[in-house]
Amino acid sequence: MASNQYMSNGSFKYKNLSELQKDIENLGLDIKISQNLDLFKEKINIGNHIIPNAIASLPMEGGDSTEHGSPTELTYRKYEKIARGGAGLIWLEAVSVSKDGRSNDKQLWLTEDNWLEFKKLNDLIKTSAKEEFGEDYNPITILQLNHSGRYCKVKGKSNPIIATHKKDLDNRLGIDEDYPIVSDDYLKGLENDFLKSARLAKKAGFDGVDIKACHGYLLSELLSAYEREGEYGGSFENRIKLLINIIQKIEEDKECEGLILASRLNASDVLPYPQGWGMSKNGEDVIDLEEPKKLIEILKDKGVSLISLTMGNPYFIPHINKPYDIGTYTPDENVIISCNRLISEIGKIQKQFPEINIVGVGYSWFRHLAPYIGAGSLENGLCNIVGFGREGISYPNFARDILKDKEMKKNKVCISCSKCSEMKSKIGTCGCIVRDSKVYLPIYKEMKKGEEN
Ligand SMILES: Cc1cc2nc3c(=O)[nH]c(=O)nc-3n(C[C@H](O)[C@H](O)[C@H](O)COP(=O)(O)O)c2cc1C
Ligand code: SF4
Repeated sequence: MASNQYMSNGSFKYKNLSELQKDIENLGLDIKISQNLDLFKEKINIGNHIIPNAIASLPMEGGDSTEHGSPTELTYRKYEKIARGGAGLIWLEAVSVSKDGRSNDKQLWLTEDNWLEFKKLNDLIKTSAKEEFGEDYNPITILQLNHSGRYCKVKGKSNPIIATHKKDLDNRLGIDEDYPIVSDDYLKGLENDFLKSARLAKKAGFDGVDIKACHGYLLSELLSAYEREGEYGGSFENRIKLLINIIQKIEEDKECEGLILASRLNASDVLPYPQGWGMSKNGEDVIDLEEPKKLIEILKDKGVSLISLTMGNPYFIPHINKPYDIGTYTPDENVIISCNRLISEIGKIQKQFPEINIVGVGYSWFRHLAPYIGAGSLENGLCNIVGFGREGISYPNFARDILKDKEMKKNKVCISCSKCSEMKSKIGTCGCIVRDSKVYLPIYKEMKKGEEN
């Protein structure tokens, strides 16, 4: 399926909303449209916190930390722009909870030694936003805590830490069947790693932490560890155990008091059972939300009030995770169908849990028409907050433009060319080479030159 060659589907063709609406109707999709962009101005209450609008900037790992995991000028620059851009919810990128759990040597990693640098980052976000929107304006910041599992890398080389074997994913990474899986003791030890990181996040001033369980990383992999033996595999209760234990520990911890408990969760891996979570167990390649909904019910009881839903595995089936026009392969479905999958499956969950604030995804591909699709989702209860990933790095002012000018500008939107993803997978450091070309195009070119040599 994947090749090193990037190819174009040339799919985005809509000049205006009515053309898009026609396709949505012809294809019988669940995507909704609304022209009431004031819906984005809705404030969202989460415990003692208020998200000032219904727009989230989703996590985008930039691979730009120091070797010890601290933010650098590139990190500060990115988040200052996002903060000045006006998204009410700023969901920061994956930050490792341990050295061996890093996705690469330039992934952020929060430690006792560098938490003040993270405080500087959070302060920068808050003060920049206040400078733009007034003293009373306070975007909510969520720090995403993660262990990269099978996608750990050391010195540019894959260094998988796996909880269970998964045939197709193993093959893609060159993992053979004798490759060791981590012990129950190792997994138990992660409870404290996450707790320590949550305490540091609280000290650094972040409003909340996300215990990340999506995209095939370690906690996400455990959700579908049907074939793992021992405490963390097999039954539903065992597979969700580590995630739940971590959340419970943070919830009960005095030092973490007041933190928003959040999770970025895969609604479905969209990989057939037994390789994937949230899939029918009768062998059919169809999504089944029964277990994800059961998990969300438990998370809710444990105090989780904010969930960012997503789907798929960006390393294996990127078109499902972030629908694109240009990528490593041409998907066997229209891109709008991939967007519809994200929006409608997430919508089914939001409808069942109206009391939980679900952040939706699947909007960036719609370019300048995205605000109308997002407003359609808000109007129809498909999510309480509309999340944008790639726009955060291509068009950091997207939220301000939606809220103030009631539009996203054609010449600023992400064109879903996947070049940021290519950089992320090849060198770790990534950004938008199209709209932020001064900084990132030279890095991209250097990477390409390196490939030729
Ligand atoms: C370069 C890149 C980095 C990403 N980093 C993260 C990350 O750190 N954590 C995460 O949960 N998702 C990450 N994502 C996924 C995005 O948050 C988002 O789910 C995805 O891009 C789809 O949303 P969009 O269509 O609005 O871009 C990343 C995506 C890209 C392209
Ligand atoms: S490089 Fe820029 S335009 Fe291309 S997909 Fe990434 S964010 Fe979008």
